[in-house]
Amino acid sequence: MLSLRSALAPRPSRALLDWTVTDLPPGVPTPDATRSTGADLRRGPLREGDRVQLTDPRGKLHTITLAAGTQFHTHRGYFTHDDIIGRPEGSVVRNTAGIEYLVLRPLLSDYVLSMPRGAAVVYPKDAGQIIAMADIYPGARVVEAGVGSGALTMSLLRAVGDGGSLYSIERREDFAAIARGNVELQFGGPHPAWQLSIGDLSDVLPTVAEPGTVDRVVLDMLAPWENLAAVATALAPGGVLIVYVATTTQLSRVAEELRLDGRYTEPTAWETMVRGWHLEGLAVRPEHRMIGHTGFLLTTRRMADGIDAPVRRRRPAKGNYPVDAAGDAGDRSEWTPEDLGERAISAKKVRRVRRDVGQGPSND
Ligand SMILES: C[S@@+](CC[C@H](N)C(=O)[O-])C[C@H]1O[C@@H](n2cnc3c(N)ncnc32)[C@H](O)[C@@H]1O
Repeated sequence: MLSLRSALAPRPSRALLDWTVTDLPPGVPTPDATRSTGADLRRGPLREGDRVQLTDPRGKLHTITLAAGTQFHTHRGYFTHDDIIGRPEGSVVRNTAGIEYLVLRPLLSDYVLSMPRGAAVVYPKDAGQIIAMADIYPGARVVEAGVGSGALTMSLLRAVGDGGSLYSIERREDFAAIARGNVELQFGGPHPAWQLSIGDLSDVLPTVAEPGTVDRVVLDMLAPWENLAAVATALAPGGVLIVYVATTTQLSRVAEELRLDGRYTEPTAWETMVRGWHLEGLAVRPEHRMIGHTGFLLTTRRMADGIDAPVRRRRPAKGNYPVDAAGDAGDRSEWTPEDLGERAISAKKVRRVRRDVGQGPSND
């Protein structure tokens, strides 16, 4: 187990480099700290520039941005945006063919599922878990990587609020541009709490955050274990790291690397499944289709400097870790049931089961 690293020794300096962006690419606007991104944007009658969601009688959704003098056309008639501007949300507008559309401002969850995507997005069900289980609160200093299409970014910005700080790091410039576009469309311009940098988390994080000053870190990337050292340096004692991964192999690797690092508490992992319900008269039942898998979440917390994570009391079950002939843990080309924590079946039991199914050795 690694103990406290000298890199963690506090440097005499500002708290968090004031969250100042030093490496924004040309043309990237700096956030406007005076703009409010909350209720003002979402309350009251529909205004020019608002994005609204139209639902037609078949449930098909269309999202438009209101502009005076503009028409919304389909192959079955049209109406003008002026028919909507000034009306309350929840109105119904009728087009020239008599087709009615329900008019509402889209919720963040609607927007995330319909917005342009570069990389796979974190679904609203997981974003909600991340906000709740990583305890992301108004005013928190949060670091996020990668940014992808910016779906999770928007939930994080909502949670930290205009007075918090979200520092997002994305290694791909093209994805960062998509995320910026999505975020600015959602919040009507640059969000005052948001800073976005292009680069690798491990390279960028030490340049933007003093050691021990970040409250929460959220990782959604292929190889989060490559960044655990940089994250441990940035996190404040007690700070939360939450990791979202798509596969069990990633989950296992990140858990083992966290234990090896020694600066994190014992990790906790889970997944969530949401099953929609059909509600119609007496036909009240689960939907036939659902999203069966999105990803796994894992949380852990930063230990205080100089304090090793307590050794687990419960010894891992025999066979949970691969061991070679010399008794050392390491990679093995062939996994056994014991490697996966399953109890090995004895030869005696195999013989009995074969007999039970009429396939005993005498029948071979
Ligand atoms: C699945 S996407 C993130 C999706 C995003 N959370 C969302 O909800 O839209 C993963 C992103 O991580 C980025 N990435 C991978 N490793 C990274 C690293 N070490 N530093 C920064 N970004 C990284 C990838 O370029 C990719 O855009």
